[in-house]
Amino acid sequence: MIRYWKRRGSNIAKKTLVAVFSASGVTKRVGKEIARISGGDFFEIIPREIYTSDDLNWSNKNSRSSLEMNDPSARPEIVNAVQDMESYDTVIIGFPIWWGVAPRIIETFLESYDFSGKTIVPFCTSGGSGVGRSDTALHKNVSGDVKWKKGVQINRPNERAIQKMLDAAL
Ligand SMILES: Cc1cc2nc3c(=O)[nH]c(=O)nc-3n(C[C@H](O)[C@H](O)[C@H](O)COP(=O)(O)O)c2cc1C
Repeated sequence: MIRYWKRRGSNIAKKTLVAVFSASGVTKRVGKEIARISGGDFFEIIPREIYTSDDLNWSNKNSRSSLEMNDPSARPEIVNAVQDMESYDTVIIGFPIWWGVAPRIIETFLESYDFSGKTIVPFCTSGGSGVGRSDTALHKNVSGDVKWKKGVQINRPNERAIQKMLDAAL
């Protein structure tokens, strides 16, 4: 959906994309609700190799997620792509917190597009940790003229929390 803003007498289209990675569905549920409330388009970041429950076992230091999170250069491959990224001026990016930060696949996503001039709004879900350093750690992946908003944690598709985030961001 496109919102129009009157600026100096002309109508300028503002489009929002809600892009999420979700290994077990929590972030996806919140992201879908953000897309519904904001009128934005929804995009799910799909890994080439879907994470199994063994992959997600954080108590095994040799599980796939542990190995990726211990390797700052890990960039898990994404199979799908956003059509027409140029047309969006706001990109809301959602992810689960893994070991205090965003999963490496979010870095793959950020490195796959040119976000120059866009507003990026990170949000996370987690088992208890807040956004912490996850958004500052991601911010370094994008070019300087991106308007990077402070990340928020939204664990449930709660309309009030989502509206608050959108009011601050858009
Ligand atoms: C590998 C791994 C590491 C995690 N690390 C943290 C953490 O450091 N802090 C936390 O609060 N939750 C942590 N969690 C829990 C997830 O952030 C939480 O369950 C999240 O809502 C899952 O979202 P999803 O269903 O969209 O994947 C971790 C989960 C996994 C699989």
